[in-house]
Amino acid sequence: MPTPILRKERLIPGKTSKLVLHAPEIAAKARPGHFVMLRMSPEGERIPLTIADTDASRGEITIVYLVLGKSTALLEALEAGDSILDVCGPLGRPTKIEKVGTVICVGGGTGIAAMHHIAKGHARAGNHVVAVIGAREKSLLLFEKELMGFVNELVVCTDDGSYGRKGLVTEPLKERLEAGGVGEVVAVGPVPMMAAVAEVTRPFGVATTVSLNPIMVDGIGMCGACRVSVGGKTKFACVDGPEFDGHQVDFPELRRRLAAFREQEAESYDRYRKEQPHGN
Ligand SMILES: Cc1cc2nc3c(=O)[nH]c(=O)nc-3n(C[C@H](O)[C@H](O)[C@H](O)COP(=O)(O)OP(=O)(O)OC[C@H]3O[C@@H](n4cnc5c(N)ncnc54)[C@H](O)[C@@H]3O)c2cc1C
Ligand code: FES
Repeated sequence: MPTPILRKERLIPGKTSKLVLHAPEIAAKARPGHFVMLRMSPEGERIPLTIADTDASRGEITIVYLVLGKSTALLEALEAGDSILDVCGPLGRPTKIEKVGTVICVGGGTGIAAMHHIAKGHARAGNHVVAVIGAREKSLLLFEKELMGFVNELVVCTDDGSYGRKGLVTEPLKERLEAGGVGEVVAVGPVPMMAAVAEVTRPFGVATTVSLNPIMVDGIGMCGACRVSVGGKTKFACVDGPEFDGHQVDFPELRRRLAAFREQEAESYDRYRKEQPHGN
């Protein structure tokens, strides 16, 4: 069913936007950790995007995406007032949110938006939430203001030191773990970041949840595309995840599988750009 775009905010012009969609049925059921699958045209692929926020009373869901290839470029071409051909969800298992005391929520790049919804769930459950967010540089940092509204502690890092603390998110994470009393760590972001977070938390024995982003095709457990290895067992991220125990995930395999179609993805994006009237 066509899903209207109510509002669009260009968070990082040309790279990342936030869309607020009118999707009352999804908004009523969506919990932190859920995602949707969107399709822009009848012949097009479906792409998975995390639900970054919901407002059930207004029937709204929020998604935030990074423009990477053809499908996200097609999405970026839409404006408030346009509709997305179909939006299916909520999909996946919601985040397991329990009262564990202190939870450190680590977000990197576009993953900060997804982490924001999970952090909100932990805050509502009465946990003390520490948010550690990182981006390559200040202009690429998302959701800082939104997180400030409800987290108990916020640490901002940039790789180049243009804002907040210079360096990777794993440094303040390690310091906070050394201070003790942390019940759980949640990480959402690029695969290398989530793998590094899991290595930092491992010696502390702190439960670590990561949100995986393998290639998905149907999003409902039928195609096998989103296969990941967790604790030596095969799991389908769309129905068994997307969140898993970070200490059990085979990250090198995930990286290999994500890269499997890189050439075809680049070709498709290239063709799409050449077909555009302005040629980019
Ligand atoms: C559960 C889940 C939640 C996600 N949430 C977000 C989000 O909130 N915001 C966001 O920006 N991105 C999110 N992603 C990644 C997003 O789905 C891909 O960036 C998108 O599909 C890229 O499509 P494309 O055609 O623009 O690029 P393509 O040229 O097709 O691909 C570019 C890169 O995107 C990844 N990718 C491509 N197709 C898929 C696919 N079907 N499923 C997963 N990854 C793919 C691959 O790493 C690929 O190298 C999520 C992925 C998953 C699995
Ligand atoms: S996307 Fe098809 S099984 Fe998960």
